[in-house]
Parts: sequence; structure tokens; C-alpha cells
Amino acid sequence: MNAPLSNQRIIVGVSGGIAAYKAVVLVRRLIEAGCEVRVVMTEAATRFVAPLSFQAVSGHPVRTTLLDAEAESGMDHIALARWADAVVVAPASANLMARLANGFADDLLTTLCLATSAPVHLAPAMNRQMWAHPATRANRDRLVEHGVTLLGPAAGAQACGETGEGRMLEPEVIVEAIVEALADALVANARPDLAGRHVVVTAGGTREPIDPVRFIANRSSGRMGFALAAEAARRGAAVTLIAGPSALPTPAGVERVDVETAAEMQAAVESIGAMDIFVGAAAVADYRVAAPADHKLKKSGETLSLELVPNPDIIRRVAERAERPFVIGFAAETDHVREYAAAKRVAKGMDLICANEVGAGKGFDRPDNALLLLWDGGEHELPQADKTRLAGEIFDTYHQITQD
Ligand code: CTP
Repeated sequence: MNAPLSNQRIIVGVSGGIAAYKAVVLVRRLIEAGCEVRVVMTEAATRFVAPLSFQAVSGHPVRTTLLDAEAESGMDHIALARWADAVVVAPASANLMARLANGFADDLLTTLCLATSAPVHLAPAMNRQMWAHPATRANRDRLVEHGVTLLGPAAGAQACGETGEGRMLEPEVIVEAIVEALADALVANARPDLAGRHVVVTAGGTREPIDPVRFIANRSSGRMGFALAAEAARRGAAVTLIAGPSALPTPAGVERVDVETAAEMQAAVESIGAMDIFVGAAAVADYRVAAPADHKLKKSGETLSLELVPNPDIIRRVAERAERPFVIGFAAETDHVREYAAAKRVAKGMDLICANEVGAGKGFDRPDNALLLLWDGGEHELPQADKTRLAGEIFDTYHQITQD
């Protein structure tokens, strides 16, 4: 899966039809593809598949009615419509298509389709004669005119025993189409507000060798740095990503340099001349083993001491350059987050520091995080969100500070 597509928010709408059972698989596949999914069912759909099945696969309660006081007090239907990056109705019955084509908003699903500005995709499923009926054809044409995307239907054996056009596309095919549409939308919607800039990002943890088979490492996954590199590229920057060992895929349009140790990361950064923005998202080891063994250390009954010597502070050196870029750093703290981060920003000469609380399941190796951004004379608290969204907010803050 392409990294930039992760954490897209999808509403899966399920209308009444035997193909509703396939929508359970669809939800599962979308989640596997990295999407966050909320399911909305029509009244008729609940007669085919129990909402509990969708709750189990999506991990969230299923919405079925428009004015459910309890649900509306959480994310109301307008908030839900705004939340979505895409709406996929699968299966879309003849009745649902008719209601949508005529602008009805008489249940939650049709209301959401009207209230959202996100793209709406329909995967029709119905008997072949219903699909071929002029009324359905007219509704289909009208929906396409309104900007709705139709996925299928396919031809083949139908639940009613007939053979013809009207089968819902297989969940895997629907996912492929949605992923492609989301990727296109991400590229099309990107603001090229970093065009012409060179952005350098360090990411991941470093590995400091003890001997040829052992090393000192940390819990950083590299996700935040990779998300920042992907976002900068989407915004039109030329991006160099200097990454510690990580299995994450290289984001589209990013030049990646793989390193292992802090010294290698330092050398890679030093080798880059002019840069406009430097983002130190790497968890650089503060110390390395003074003299790593050139052979595997054998155990003895004795205590073993390793002598550690300090590593160069990569971000500080960048901030000390005569022609310095805008410097964005991170602070991972277990306590006194604001106080320690503010001091760290000044001590290291950063323009902007992004502080987060780590430990107790927070921060590392997770797709989401909460950040406190601090700069000279301002701050932003970014609530828990996926790292792709946080990356966008960090570059928005850069524009706010530099007013460009
Ligand atoms: N950093 C760096 N080079 C280092 C250590 C850290 O460039 N040798 C950068 C990180 O990429 C991050 C910031 O400095 O942007 C803060 O790193 P952190 O480890 O939290 O701070 P330290 O200075 O190591 O302070 P401490 O470990 O005492 O909290």
C-alpha cells in the first residue's frame, strides 16, 4: 500500500440487497488498505446483514437512523459528512439510486450523500432487468451528471438465478478503484505551496553498533518523518529523506538516503548544501559505543561495561549554518512536555519544535499522535490525529510563522 493513502476516512454506505454481505468484506479490505471506516446502513440493509457484523469489522458503532439522539450528540450527520474523504455505497440498490438521483434526504445515508463534499462512489447491485429498466438508466445518467462515480455493475450469475448485468463488483475491485481515486484526489488537491523549496527530513531511529551482530537502537518507527517527507513532496518541494533503518515504503517523489548510525546520518546531512527547510524527525542516538568490537563479543561470567561517547547533534549543527534553513525539530518527552520542549527549542536553535509525550503506549510506532507546536511567540496544540494530517498542520504552521 502506498504510504500517502493511509488513514483516508471512508464512509461505507450499505443499502438493501443480497450483496450487502459482501460489504462486510469491503470494509475489512479498506481497513487493511489503511483507511479508517464508518458504516452507515439503510433500514432495508439491516434485514440482510446485522449491524453488529459491520461494527465488529469496522471497530465502530454502525449508524442507521438520521435523528438518533445518542449518535447525533457524538458526531452528528453533518460532522460525519465533513469527516469523510470519500463515500462508497455498496451495494447501491435501484431504490437507493432513485432516491439519490432525485435529491431525497429521507434517511441518514441519502442525507450524507447530499451533505458531503467528498466524492461519492456507487457500486450498484440489482437484478439485471431492474438495471436495464429505463427508469434506472435515467437515474444512473442523472447521478453521473451530478458527479457520482459508478463502480460496475459486473455481468454474471445473479442471486435471483438469472445471468446478466447487475452483479456488484467484488470487494477487492471496489477497493482498488477507491484507492486509485483517493490517490488522484490527493495529488489534485495538493497545494503546491512548497514548490521550489528543498526540504530535508531525517527520520527513524539510528543503530549504534556494539559488535558485528548487536546494536543500540530505539523505538522510533520513522512514520512521522516519512509522513512529513510525503507531505512536503505533495506540496511540490524537492525532498531528501535521510532515513534510519525502516521497512516503510519510500513516499512518492521523495529521494531517500538510507543510513544506520548517527555519524552516517550526520555525514548525509552535511553533504547537502543549500536547503530551505530542515526537519529533524529522527530519534538520533545521543551516544555511541566508543570502540565497537570487530568480532562478536563472547559472554563471560563477568560484568560487561560499554563505554559510550556522545554523538554529534545533527539539528544543532544545521541551525548553526551561516545560511541556515528554517529548522523544525521534535522533542519526545515523558514528562514536563511544554517546559522541556521550550528549553530544547532555544538550546538547539530551532525555529519550530513539535513536542509529544512518549511512553505508556504513546507516540512511538503508532499511526497517530498528539503534538504541541512551539515557536518564538506562538503555539498550537494539535489533538490526536494520524501522522499524515499532523504533517500537513506542521507545514501550515511553517507558513504561518514565516508568513509566506
Ligand atoms: N537530534 C539530532 N541529533 C542528535 C540528537 C537529537 O538532530 N544527536 C534532534 C532530533 O531529531 C530531534 C531533536 O534533536 O529533532 C530532539 O531530540 P531529543 O532526543 O528529544 O533531545 P535531546 O537533545 O537528545 O535531549 P534529551 O535526550 O536529553 O531529552
